[in-house]
Amino acid sequence: MLDPTALFSMSYGLYVVSADDGEHKVGCLINTATQVTAEPIQVMVAVNKGNFSADVIRRAGAFAVTVLDETADMPYIGNFGFRTSENYDKFDKYGCATTDDGCPYSPEHICAVMSAKLVQTVDVGSHYLFIGQVTQAEKVGEGKPMTYGYYHSVLKGKTPPKASSYVAS
Ligand SMILES: Cc1cc2nc3c(=O)[nH]c(=O)nc-3n(C[C@H](O)[C@H](O)[C@H](O)COP(=O)(O)O)c2cc1C
Repeated sequence: MLDPTALFSMSYGLYVVSADDGEHKVGCLINTATQVTAEPIQVMVAVNKGNFSADVIRRAGAFAVTVLDETADMPYIGNFGFRTSENYDKFDKYGCATTDDGCPYSPEHICAVMSAKLVQTVDVGSHYLFIGQVTQAEKVGEGKPMTYGYYHSVLKGKTPPKASSYVAS
C-alpha cells in the first residue's frame, strides 16, 4: 500500500528562499526547509527545477531563508508562492533588505532570517536540494512562526504542483 495522503501527517513551516545572481532577485515560497546539522549549522531547501529561483540560487552560490510568521496573509503568500520572479520583482511590494552574503529578503511578515553559502546541490529528480552553511541568523520579531497546518486550516491555502508535498486530487 502506498497512500500519499499519509504524508500529509508530516509537519512543516512556511519559508521564503531568496537569492540574487547579479541579474535577478528571486524569492520562492517553500514549505521544505530544515536544519540538517548543528556543527557547522547547515540548512536544506528543496526547490523545484521548474521554479525560476532554482537556477538563480545555483548561480548565486548563496541563499537566504526567512521564516514566515502568522501575520503573513494570502496576498503575501501569493506574491512569493503563486507567481514567478522571472519578469517580476517580488520585493517591490514588500520591501527588500540584504543579508551579509548579499541575498535579498523581505523583512515583512517574518520572525527570523538566515543566510547561507551554498555548499552542496543534490539532484533529486523534480527538485534540487540546496544545502547551505549558515553564516548569519537573526530573530527579527516576536511573531509566531507559521506552520503549514496553520496555512491550510486558518488561511485555507492550497498546495501548488511545484511544491514537494503536492498530491494531485
Ligand atoms: C504553500 C506553498 C508551498 C510551496 N512549497 C514549495 C516547495 O517546497 N518547493 C518549491 O520549489 N516550490 C514550492 N512552492 C511553489 C513556489 O513557491 C512557486 O512555484 C513560485 O511561484 C516559484 O517562484 P519562482 O518562479 O520565482 O521561483 C510552494 C508554494 C506554496 C503556495
